[in-house]
Amino acid sequence: MNATTNYQNTRILLSSRPEGEPTAANFQIETIDVPAPAEGEVLLRTIYLSLDPYMRGRMSAAKSYAAPVEIGDVMEGGTVSEVVESRHPDLMAGDFVLSHCGWQSYAVVPGGRHLRKLDPGSAPISTAVGVLGMPGFTAYAGLLAIGKPQQGETVAVAAATGPVGSMVGQLAKIKGANAIGIAGGPDKVAFLRRLGFDEALDHRSPGFLAQVKAATPDGIDVYFENVGGAVWDAVLPRLNTYARVPVCGLVAHYNDTQMPAGPDQLPKLMRNILTKSLTIRGFIQNEFINDYYKAFQKDVAGWIADGRIQYREDIVTGLENTPEAFAGLLTGKNFGKLLIEVAPDSTRR
Ligand SMILES: NC(=O)c1ccc[n+]([C@@H]2O[C@H](COP(=O)([O-])OP(=O)(O)OC[C@H]3O[C@@H](n4cnc5c(N)ncnc54)[C@H](OP(=O)(O)O)[C@@H]3O)[C@@H](O)[C@H]2O)c1
Repeated sequence: MNATTNYQNTRILLSSRPEGEPTAANFQIETIDVPAPAEGEVLLRTIYLSLDPYMRGRMSAAKSYAAPVEIGDVMEGGTVSEVVESRHPDLMAGDFVLSHCGWQSYAVVPGGRHLRKLDPGSAPISTAVGVLGMPGFTAYAGLLAIGKPQQGETVAVAAATGPVGSMVGQLAKIKGANAIGIAGGPDKVAFLRRLGFDEALDHRSPGFLAQVKAATPDGIDVYFENVGGAVWDAVLPRLNTYARVPVCGLVAHYNDTQMPAGPDQLPKLMRNILTKSLTIRGFIQNEFINDYYKAFQKDVAGWIADGRIQYREDIVTGLENTPEAFAGLLTGKNFGKLLIEVAPDSTRR
């Protein structure tokens, strides 16, 4: 039998696949002993768990770009962790690392390059899963590689107060484009204006369709697609000739159990693609890592330092609150990058 430590790991397992919105019944919380790390391994304590919309896809058995979480397995997820015990030469107790430990309070994992050491002195450790991590990179790579915004063009993005959308809009401004942000509710709209978006629109407002038209007198050159649904319907007629559409996410549809009813919209879409010479391209962020990751880290760290990029975090305390917070992420209850603070962040200034 493996030796155990005095630590107790609370972990959240996928217990069933959701039909529609995920609920607490899809998860099981349990507490088990934490094993002692073997040679080459480290024992990590989770400080922050990142909650991201892609996790809804992992809960489903449908074929996708990544394998689903199996029933009975720990839900997966990016984490910022503290090294509690190290039997790997590159790490020592007290170090902070970017890791992928999932929905649990402790994990024993092999050491090595997949654990990126973080410097709490150069940026808050939480940013490693937010503005300086996967979501920020997604926005940077998708917008620059596919959207290619030019000076004076118009860039539109929804889920605009989230970590992807807020980066897209601010980056568009840095590149000299106009930024139109779309979000749910007046508080989020007000926040977008403070961030410097040229226009901020509420997709829940009854006049939304007319507002999109009024806010885009010169049309839209880049629509960074995060949501789909009614926002896409409003944006499609405003796309200019040669518009680019990086398809990053479709969060309005992640809880769908069947295709929406109604007339087949495909011929209209294909006609738009043809007659306006549209470029519509889906992507998964990791395909751009080799070409864009270094530049992303350098550029965004500099822009945060000089105030051109701002970010907002929505921190929920306690691992036990993860299922509810995750369900809220898919319906807009979060306001900023959603994080679970699993154990207190001793580095926070
Ligand atoms: N392709 C990739 O590699 C990749 C990587 C990371 C993220 N993504 C995608 O990027 C998108 C944004 O991710 P994020 O982490 O920044 O999430 P986020 O914005 O923090 O959270 C999702 C937001 O979507 C909005 N939303 C939900 N239902 C909606 C609906 N029916 N209509 C319009 N908006 C709706 C809500 O904001 P409002 O309250 O403002 O509506 C919600 O807060 C997601 O689609 C995600 O899957 C893709």
